[in-house]
Amino acid sequence: MSERIPIMADGLPEMFHQALGDRYEILDWDTSEGSDAVARSVAMLSYAHPLADGALMDRMTNLRVISNHGVGVDHIDLVAAEERGIPVGNTPGCLDASTADMTMALVMAIGRNLRIGDHYARSPEFVHYDPSILIGQEITGSTLGIIGMGRIGKEVARRAAGFDMTVLYHNRNRDEAAEADLGVQYATRDELLAASDFVALNCPLSDETAGMIGPAEFETMKSTAFLVNMARGPVVQTDALVTALTTGQIRGAALDVTDPEPLPRDHRLLELENAIILPHLGSASNRTRERMMNMSIENLEAGLAGEELPYRIRP
Ligand code: DGY
Repeated sequence: MSERIPIMADGLPEMFHQALGDRYEILDWDTSEGSDAVARSVAMLSYAHPLADGALMDRMTNLRVISNHGVGVDHIDLVAAEERGIPVGNTPGCLDASTADMTMALVMAIGRNLRIGDHYARSPEFVHYDPSILIGQEITGSTLGIIGMGRIGKEVARRAAGFDMTVLYHNRNRDEAAEADLGVQYATRDELLAASDFVALNCPLSDETAGMIGPAEFETMKSTAFLVNMARGPVVQTDALVTALTTGQIRGAALDVTDPEPLPRDHRLLELENAIILPHLGSASNRTRERMMNMSIENLEAGLAGEELPYRIRP
């Protein structure tokens, strides 16, 4: 049998091991001094967003490709990889539907009190039906503001149309094709924040979006509005969010991602009834996970063969 190809990967599940087969020697993601994985690996297979910076790339003298399981690559220094001639691949497109589904799930869950309602229904306090409790925000006919009108944002808009929502969007560039196709209306960020019943963050984390939602933005939002973060935790200033939720600046927040992630177990946000927090489940559906795996293996194999990656991402 020919020698197996050493690759460094973090916590791959069994289905990945099976799909990769015997061709590879999968070494644990170990970046400590003297790490065998760092010394020998010819590829990084980044499964759950471990940090890959220029210093690590420099130590990996055999590195030929970085393949990321997921579309967001804020944990990989793309500029450093480009400067070193190391191609980086990600998995765009395949998770748009599942992430948009989850955006809508969180809009509905926070707007209609699913978390509190579930707790109450299980508790001894629930002794008879009471039509006056837990009155939520009707989703149908509400205004949804989507920040980030990329592929996922567009899928969210498509779903929102089914709920007769008015959809505002804000994006770096105005997208007239999306306006025509989806009936969405462009708004400045402040206009969107001021008018929306639900603000959904569907943008990547970048220098431009880091800390984008802070005290001034919460001040601009309606006190009856809800924030849904499907982007990355650092897009929202966590302390400002706690203030907004505890002082009534906004009514609630549903977060698929947090900063830090996970939050310390004694963090104030974890105690708040008007927050729903998920452990980063946006793309966690069976079909999407399988596609993400296949695309990341395609990128890995192309990179090792010295071919153009089918899904290459550049800075
Ligand atoms: C992504 O694709 O960036 C998701 O967060 C899952 O990794």
